[in-house]
This record gives sequence, C-alpha cells and structure tokens, in this order.
Amino acid sequence: MNVPRLKLDAVSCRYGDLPVLAAISMTVQPGEFVSILGPSGCGKSTLFKLLTGGIDADAGAIEFDGQPLAAAGRPFAFMPQRDALMPWRRILDNTTLGLEVQGMRRRHARERVAPLFAEFGLSGFEENYPAELSGGMRQRAALLRTVVQDKPMLLLDEPFGALDALTRAGMQRWLEQMWKKHRWTAMLVTHDVREAVHLSDRIYVLSPRPARVIREIEVDLPRPRGRDAATQTRAAAIEADLLETLLDPGQPGSRTHPAFAAK
Ligand SMILES: Nc1ncnc2c1ncn2[C@@H]1O[C@H](COP(=O)(O)OP(=O)(O)OP(=O)(O)O)[C@@H](O)[C@H]1O
Ligand SMILES: [Mg+2]
Repeated sequence: MNVPRLKLDAVSCRYGDLPVLAAISMTVQPGEFVSILGPSGCGKSTLFKLLTGGIDADAGAIEFDGQPLAAAGRPFAFMPQRDALMPWRRILDNTTLGLEVQGMRRRHARERVAPLFAEFGLSGFEENYPAELSGGMRQRAALLRTVVQDKPMLLLDEPFGALDALTRAGMQRWLEQMWKKHRWTAMLVTHDVREAVHLSDRIYVLSPRPARVIREIEVDLPRPRGRDAATQTRAAAIEADLLETLLDPGQPGSRTHPAFAAK
C-alpha cells in the first residue's frame, strides 16, 4: 500500500458552536488530482483553512507523507476562493508574492516567474494591473503564483467559480493539460459537477453542513477528457449520478449512501 501524500482521518472542526466538518476521512495519493464536491456553505473552504492552519481540528488526525502535519511550514500552495490578486500590484509582482512570503528577494522571484508567463497565457501583461486583465487571465495569474511556490501539493478553492461558462471550459482544458505535464498533486474544491468529472482522478462528495463524506468515486475516464463521443457519454452519466447525490444526499436507497452510512 502506498503512503498517501495527504491523509485525513475522522477530522472534525467547528466555529464556536457551529460544527462544520464531521469526521472527514480522505486521502490524496502523490500525483493524484482529487476534487471535493459539495453544496454551498457545507465546509469546503473550511477544509482548506484547516489544512493551511487557519483553524484547528477538534478531533481526528491529518498526515502528510505518513507524518503528522506539522504546525509550521505547511506543504501546501493555496489558491483562495476570492480576492486572490492584490489590485495595487502589477501582475508580475502579484505572481512573485508567494515566493516573497517564503523569503525570496523580489528580483530573484521575478526571474523565477517570468519564464512561466508564456505557458500561462500572460505574456505581455507583466506590467499590467489585475483590473486590466480578463477574468480568465486573472485566474491564471493567481494559479501561476500558486504553482511557482513549488510546494508538494496544490489546494485550489473554486479557481474558476467566477468565470463565464465558455472561459471556464477553456480553463478546465488548460488546467488538465498543465496537470498532465507537471504532475501536480492537487486538491480542487468546486460545486461544479462537470468540472470535477473533467479534471479529477477521484471525487469526494460532501453532505450539507456539517460536512460528512457521503460518496467517493473514481473517475476512470481516459485523458484528455471529453474529446470523443464515448468518453463524453460516460462522463455525462457520472455527472448525472453525482448531481443526484448532491441534490438528494440523504435519500435512502441512493446507491452511494448506505456504504458510507455504514461506516
Ligand atoms: N470565520 C467564520 N466564523 C464563523 N463561521 C464561519 C466562518 N467561516 C465560515 N463559516 C461558516 O461555516 C460554514 C462553512 O463555510 P465554508 O466557507 O467552509 O463553506 P463552503 O463549502 O466553502 O461554501 P461555498 O461553496 O459557498 O464557498 C458556513 O455555514 C459559514 O457560514
Ligand atoms: Mg468556499
């Protein structure tokens, strides 16, 4: 059995009296792309807050590469759900921010990020401010800032949530290609079923708050996804099935539920 990169074992947490995560168990293997799918307000961003150290668990254990997750020097590069870019910094200086926070000098950080601008579709916009870019470009800049930190694992919180459907579909294709090339270990939070199926090796579905894992599925579709008719048909079937779980999480007789309720 491989040691998972990330392992959560019955982790719970709360804000004061409000229980948010209830005995969450999940794993992410090295190089795996795992999505967390769940309704708005269920606790998805809180899960990332827990991993990045913004809130403590009140039960359960978190391991990274087989060791308890240390309080300092967390191994995650995190892309937050919103307000990812600082409006007063040029794009180049936004993308260096994560490295600067790690203590790298700005000049050195600029040398490190500059060659990646082409790959992220941002060439020529180094000196522009975030407000001067399209929504998709801003998200790619935020993603560039995240991946350049060279951490062992990426945490992406609804990276495409604010984009129109067409831009989002383009970004999903692009992210899939990038993931294939760079072999990132990634956890993506989304409430978009299609996005999860398009990008993931595995998907965990969470219940409404307090979030429990009500389903785990492996997405065994060839990559790149969604190009041929057969794959599209299978993807659509998985999407429909997941949507059913999300819309009716407690339905007795739902294919998913008994397996997890039994644990
Ligand atoms: N700092 C906080 N203090 C108190 N309650 C909070 C805090 N942050 C979030 N909550 C509550 O915790 C619950 C989970 O919030 P969270 O942001 O994790 O949900 P989410 O699944 O990411 O939702 P969305 O899909 O809308 O982003 C919500 O009920 C929210 O009101
Ligand atoms: Mg959220």
